[in-house]
Amino acid sequence: MKIATLIAHEILASGGYPTLEVVVTLDSGEVGTASVPYGISAGSHEASVLIDGDQTRWHGQGMLKAAANVMEKIAPVVMGMDASDQRALDEAMIELDGTPNKAKLGGNAILAVSLASARAAAAALKKPLYQHIIDTYNTGVDLSELPHPMIVAIEGGKHADNTTDLQEYCFLGLEPKSPTESVRIILECYHELKKVLKSIGLSTNVGNEGAFAPSNIASNEAPFRYMTHAIEAAGYTPGKEVGFSIDAAANEFYKNGEYHMRVENKKFSSPQMVRYYEYWLENYPIVSVEDLLSEDDWDHWPILKKLTDKHKVMLIGDDLTVTNVERLQKAIDADAISAILIKLNQIGTLTETVDCCLLARKHNMATVTSHRGGGETNDTAMVDLAVAVGSAYIKVGPTRGERVAKYNRLIEIERELND
Ligand code: PGA
Ligand code: ZN
Repeated sequence: MKIATLIAHEILASGGYPTLEVVVTLDSGEVGTASVPYGISAGSHEASVLIDGDQTRWHGQGMLKAAANVMEKIAPVVMGMDASDQRALDEAMIELDGTPNKAKLGGNAILAVSLASARAAAAALKKPLYQHIIDTYNTGVDLSELPHPMIVAIEGGKHADNTTDLQEYCFLGLEPKSPTESVRIILECYHELKKVLKSIGLSTNVGNEGAFAPSNIASNEAPFRYMTHAIEAAGYTPGKEVGFSIDAAANEFYKNGEYHMRVENKKFSSPQMVRYYEYWLENYPIVSVEDLLSEDDWDHWPILKKLTDKHKVMLIGDDLTVTNVERLQKAIDADAISAILIKLNQIGTLTETVDCCLLARKHNMATVTSHRGGGETNDTAMVDLAVAVGSAYIKVGPTRGERVAKYNRLIEIERELND
């Protein structure tokens, strides 16, 4: 299972700019291909996405440098290595890069090689990718409970113009146990939501993630009302089959120590911001919340955590923790969160991502494996990862090819396991 060749090139991501695809070929002839996404509201502690900066092409967003790093710098080191020894492979690339955030080679270059190698090894071992990840890292996941869908229904913040300050309002599958059934139920609610928005004269055009992005929305609370109506119109009960989850992506409206709510034209201190959220937790079937405070507002996350614990709501760190074991450990020590969002490209190797998931599990924290809002591809490795580490949910938008590819992979895995 020795790595024989590495090829890297630009492909288009959903945002219309390039991203990186890598093809790994083994001595045995097996091939693994992977592409990586990029975020639009990325946290400042994430692994770097190396872009060319050459303004004569792609407004500087090209990825030829990252591709060259794969072929000229990474290839000489990893060629001849055993693709099934994923930890050694990832560690070799981390050492070669030598920076804390993979700035030299690019997190995009390293992750694409990491995932393409895992795919090639899985193909050589004739295993699905999720099974290969389970076996490689002894995750101990028994596959009886697959991740459930957390489907973005309304998007705002940086993902759409002139809409909510919060970035995502999601439907979340509670019952029945089958994720395939949950996907159906939620998308039925999503189609009803379209009718609800239309009936009050709001636009039903979709944003980056394929969710509705109505401009001139009345308030940051209004989506909860629209989504409640949609669940009922679809014949379900809010809080029974379908709950709510929000991602504030609060970094995006945090400036000079205050949270700026454009829609309501108000500025809040951190304690005021927590009180603002409290009203929603009391009044809607919210099951989980993410990044309600900014990535370095460490003093107030534990206060928020006490509130979410009281309401039995899952508190997810995303930009706060960036799939990074050190930041996760800091959040555990501070009792700042009860769950963590997982994005492979926030950290940049499969091994570090799985280590982060295992640390979370050790502390009884749920993981939610997520797409990226900015530029996604049809790659579905995130779904196999979610299955392999026993994530509670996958968070992905409801429509557009690069999003439904993820749900189709989840449905395919469930079908294969039931055959
Ligand atoms: P991003 O946003 O991928 O655009 O950073 C998604 C999220 O914050 O969860
Ligand atoms: Zn987020």
